[in-house]
Amino acid sequence: MNNEKTILCIGAGYVGGPTMAMLALKNPDYKVIVVDINSERIKAWNSENLPIYEPGLLEIVHRVRDKNLFFSTDIDNSIIEAHIIFVSVNTPTKTFGHGAGYASDLQYWEKTARQILKLSDSSKIIVEKSTLPVKTAQAMERILNSNEKGIIFDVLSNPEFLAEGTAIKDLENPDRVLVGSSETESGLRARDKIVQLYSSWIDNERILTSNVWSTELSKLTANAFLAQRISSINSISALCEETGANIHEVAHAVGTDSRIGQKFLDASVGFGGSCFKKDIFNLVYLCRHYGLDEVADYWESVVKMNEYQVERFVLKMLKSMFNTVTGKKIALFGFAFKANTGDTRESPAIYVTKKLLNEMANVAISDPKALENAKIELKDFKENVEYCSDPYVAAKNAHAIAVLTEWECYKTLDYKKIFASMEKPAFIFDGRNTLPHKELFEMGFNVIPLGMPELSHF
Ligand code: UDX
Ligand code: ADP
Repeated sequence: MNNEKTILCIGAGYVGGPTMAMLALKNPDYKVIVVDINSERIKAWNSENLPIYEPGLLEIVHRVRDKNLFFSTDIDNSIIEAHIIFVSVNTPTKTFGHGAGYASDLQYWEKTARQILKLSDSSKIIVEKSTLPVKTAQAMERILNSNEKGIIFDVLSNPEFLAEGTAIKDLENPDRVLVGSSETESGLRARDKIVQLYSSWIDNERILTSNVWSTELSKLTANAFLAQRISSINSISALCEETGANIHEVAHAVGTDSRIGQKFLDASVGFGGSCFKKDIFNLVYLCRHYGLDEVADYWESVVKMNEYQVERFVLKMLKSMFNTVTGKKIALFGFAFKANTGDTRESPAIYVTKKLLNEMANVAISDPKALENAKIELKDFKENVEYCSDPYVAAKNAHAIAVLTEWECYKTLDYKKIFASMEKPAFIFDGRNTLPHKELFEMGFNVIPLGMPELSHF
């Protein structure tokens, strides 16, 4: 018999871990269990060294762990015990078969659904947390309700909008929470239960309910829109470089239109992260499936523009450094896909490093939180790459520095000391436009920002 007040989350990753910590904190009368097949990950969740870095997370975990939040590898018994099951397993892009490169690989989700089905002897609410292609909930509901035990599973969609690095802030104070369900009597009852969990700290106007398909599609669309803004501003950064306009000024001027707004208009070496590319490809796959080729092409161009931007960045490095980087040391400041996270999934730094290694450069990578993940990303590249926790060591004897992540710590380094330790002429390629360009130029650096005139001593 399950317990109405026991919540289980399957998958203790970037989404499952922080979300459940917050749910446990805000609902002390519920018991929340988080399970994973990866026992190392669970061990880390039970330690002082959490498996993901997220500001504010450890403090919350301290407050609830072993009180009403439990991390465990006992998936089977937890499924039996829980009444509400959040599924937060990975749904990477398929690498094989039909839809390879675009569609989501749903094997982990389906395995989880079958495991739930096998072990359950009472009705349960299943909540999709992973970003999934539209109509997944319906497919899962079909699998689950194919049982002959007479038990009912309501499958809901409750996509996550937290951004890494600000996950706790986003969970504490979200713009909105989406809860989608089927509109049957039992679906609506399940929806109320999930809404109730969130309403213990979020006002009801911000909890949006709808049918499951709208909720699933809203998540894909929100990420596609965000990525589209970055590709749009990045495309204009290329034009700025040709014409002498300044992307910072253009973005500010454009963003002051209250219909457009200032957020997500920072030109960069490219967007990364586990969601944007995957979700856009999901959308593209869906559109093609329904014969909407023009719509598919439209969204696919957002990813193509991102690829163009990172390629353009490396080609610019090459051109500025006299068309060769062979044998030259190049320091990368930042490897995470954005600041305040150790996550390197789809980070533009991966592409930049591979391209530089291909050009026979020696790459010294520095990052305050992502060095371990960087080593995993680059495990096939043993030669000509070194990892330095100290950026001063990375820059020593380097011909160039490329800033790839907008970490605060890179803004306040002693660049005079760095300049003195580098080969000359010394270059800084600012892929995030966060350094004081004029000051660096006056110290002697050749500064190549994005979407702004270069500051060159030649
Ligand atoms: C994103 C969504 O923001 C979040 O709502 C969703 O749930 C998951 O995907 P995340 O991938 O953690 O979150 O990071 P986000 O802050 O959106 O940044 C994504 C990428 O865009 C990063 O590489 C970031 O550096 C880049 N970016 C962001 C820019 O290049 N310019 C900007 O102006 C903003
Ligand atoms: P996200 O960013 O969506 O949270 P992650 O990759 O960080 O994705 O986390 C997904 C987690 O789900 C991983 O820790 C993985 O080990 C776990 N997982 C995948 N399949 C299963 C499964 N069948 N049972 C339990 N956990 C699983």
